[in-house]
Amino acid sequence: MATRRCVLFDLDGTLTRSEEGIWKCFRHTAKTMGFSEPGDDVMRKLIGPPLAWSFRNLIGVPEERIPEALATYRARYNTVGYRENRVFPGVRALFAMLKKRGDFVAVVTGKPEPATRKVLEYFDLEKWVDGISCATDGHAEKDALIRAVLPEDAGEVWMVGDRCFDIEGGIMAGVHTLGVAYGYGTVEELRDSGAEKIAMTVGELREILCPGDAVPAGAFLSIEGLDGSGKGTQIEKLTDMIDRFGFEVVHSREPGGTPIGEKVREILLSREDAEMTDITEALLFAASRAQHVREVIRPAVAAGKVLLCDRFVDSSAAYQGGGRQLGVERVLAINAPAVDGTLPLATVYLDIGHTESLRRRCAASEPDRLEMETEQFHARVEAAYHELIARDPERFIVVDATGDRDAIGEEIAARVLKRLTEAEK
Ligand code: TYD
Repeated sequence: MATRRCVLFDLDGTLTRSEEGIWKCFRHTAKTMGFSEPGDDVMRKLIGPPLAWSFRNLIGVPEERIPEALATYRARYNTVGYRENRVFPGVRALFAMLKKRGDFVAVVTGKPEPATRKVLEYFDLEKWVDGISCATDGHAEKDALIRAVLPEDAGEVWMVGDRCFDIEGGIMAGVHTLGVAYGYGTVEELRDSGAEKIAMTVGELREILCPGDAVPAGAFLSIEGLDGSGKGTQIEKLTDMIDRFGFEVVHSREPGGTPIGEKVREILLSREDAEMTDITEALLFAASRAQHVREVIRPAVAAGKVLLCDRFVDSSAAYQGGGRQLGVERVLAINAPAVDGTLPLATVYLDIGHTESLRRRCAASEPDRLEMETEQFHARVEAAYHELIARDPERFIVVDATGDRDAIGEEIAARVLKRLTEAEK
């Protein structure tokens, strides 16, 4: 019978960095039950051992109140705590690569099944996982969990984990063991427990499990809006969420993003360059972009990164095409050789309207040459943006950016992550 290689992963500390949720749930439980809140030294010891053990030995919960502690902890974990996780950057690419090889991929964890499923579902990792093996009520015999999840056609089997429990369980189950030193254990712990191989980073883990395989392409995203639309704040929030999901995210901006582009940016935005003609301006933006596409955007996407760009060709179409009245069509034509077919998978448009943009710009301290333009100019920019959105509604994610920043951030993250995870399939 043909066999399949099986790669089994521990969850906390191997696929996800989970201390934020675990700590918050522990603090919440201790506080709710009237125990003193654990300090930082105690918090560090919480990740790994079964929950009941930690409540008993680290918080001092008496035996008869352990069920209450577990219930309080789980009530918070299953509603908010599971989202307070971070998938290690590069894990998504690793999963995609293992599936491409035809491997059987499973998660073997001391976490109860409902919590495990919530995490895998929320972070959209479920689609790559063929099996889940979880402890019931804190009984975490890893070797039994490993044996339970293996399919009939199991060939070579690897247990991947960050703690001695994972490695020891793997050895007891008679499978190969691979320790990861980027989680909660140390290299010494992994070595002492007998790990056959050790990876210091997710990149190394990928090299060990999929040597020589190409990393799947990443994605190009851009964010647009009138001046004062809050791009800076929203880029920060979105970056955090994309990173939380285990994508390797990098930033760039236009004009700029490369050494040559940054020099062009200085010329473009300097308030001394008042005599610049409109067509010169459009060509300079395009020149900066031509360099950026080739030197930064394409290489990043080819290396599997998610490149989030602060403005792209839509800015030229809106500002030079609409604002300067060169015409959207003409500006897109000027930009065709610069862009050369490299368009974003999704473009977030932060919609604030030109009146609000003016109000926010007036409040800002030092407007640049373009920000100093008249209200009519910005009204034309806005109109051009709306024309671009109408032409390409599939690519644009239009968000009302006048309300609460956190709520706006959540909406953007949800919609962008949907596009990113759908593109992985
Ligand atoms: P931006 O970096 O967003 O400004 P800031 O850092 O001050 O928030 O953009 C600089 C200005 O350049 C902005 O007013 C929009 C304008 N711009 C264009 O006119 N055309 C373009 O192609 C690009 C990328 C930007």
